[in-house]
Amino acid sequence: MESFKWGILGTGKIARRFMQAAFYVPEAQVVAVGSRDKQTAEQFGAQFGVPKRYASYNAVLDDPEVQIVYVATPHSLHAENTLAALQAGKHVLCEKPFTLNARQAEQVIQAARASGQFVMEGMWTRCFPLVRELVRRTQAGDIGEVRLVMADFGFRAAFDPTSRLFAPELGGGALLDVGIYPVALAFLFLGAPAQMHSHATLGATGVDELCSILFAYENGAQAILSASLQLDTPKQAFICGTEGRFHLPAPWWKPSEAYLVRNDGSQEHLLYPYEGDGLQFEIRHVHDCVRQGLTESPWMPLDETLAIMRTLDTLRAHWGVRYPGE
Ligand SMILES: NC(=O)c1ccc[n+]([C@@H]2O[C@H](COP(=O)([O-])OP(=O)(O)OC[C@H]3O[C@@H](n4cnc5c(N)ncnc54)[C@H](OP(=O)(O)O)[C@@H]3O)[C@@H](O)[C@H]2O)c1
Repeated sequence: MESFKWGILGTGKIARRFMQAAFYVPEAQVVAVGSRDKQTAEQFGAQFGVPKRYASYNAVLDDPEVQIVYVATPHSLHAENTLAALQAGKHVLCEKPFTLNARQAEQVIQAARASGQFVMEGMWTRCFPLVRELVRRTQAGDIGEVRLVMADFGFRAAFDPTSRLFAPELGGGALLDVGIYPVALAFLFLGAPAQMHSHATLGATGVDELCSILFAYENGAQAILSASLQLDTPKQAFICGTEGRFHLPAPWWKPSEAYLVRNDGSQEHLLYPYEGDGLQFEIRHVHDCVRQGLTESPWMPLDETLAIMRTLDTLRAHWGVRYPGE
């Protein structure tokens, strides 16, 4: 099978998980990593067997061997890094959230479409085989008409005003870090909401540390979503239809099992075990798209990424959460 040569920007937690996942995808070759610091790049490269270790992100982009760039930096750098990668003629998988706000997303999407390169937001949940199966079954009418999506994603993070979770200059807050998962799940099964109601508890750095969101749709459907950096919440999701519901136990955003509970009380256990953390499905999906010459993912299209970013902007505006430069 044709192999693909990746370059990674950043050496943090998700970059490490990407390397572990790439192990399950033999056709993925990570040939280069870039860090702000040469020694960090060297350590990362040595640990994961990445041959080229650069002391800057631009050096990765200048490397002609790199075909696909994985942007694994804090949210606040996603737009800048993706634009630079496109300029260098690379395909891009950019971590979620795609950018800090919709204005940046519009700019990046315009550049992406002009470039003819493949660009996708790393909403990896969409790539799990079980999620594809739930979408297929929902379209086939297995739970009737979807009327309610409920999902939460909350964990307790140690407060550190300098970390990307809490620092406004790095795009801190629960919504952009984890709230985007429930929001994207509601979009997957119900689309963009007609109305939103929400409340957020802001912390010492002025970002949302706990938020609750209600989406309302033209057809009467609703979504109840929450996210937190303060609390370890149940981390479950329910997709409720007129004929039954899907229940995704924790951690629902990387699911290996779900229950189909029908109105008559009968249940079906859907079991989709996988190795490792599951990021490999997203890596394979990117390969499939690039191999087919696609410039967008059919599972996470850029228009939907933009609609989600607009929704996040609206929610933050309600709460008065603004990032420097906004
Ligand atoms: N899909 C997922 O499950 C998932 C999970 C976690 C995070 N993410 C996303 O991935 C992105 C990175 O998250 P992470 O948890 O990997 O973050 P992290 O551990 O803080 O790593 C971020 C990396 O970005 C680089 N960086 C550049 N400028 C920085 C700055 N001013 N401050 C801190 N780091 C800076 C650093 O690499 P160098 O020092 O090598 O330059 C750092 O190691 C976020 O946008 C997040 O939403 C996704």
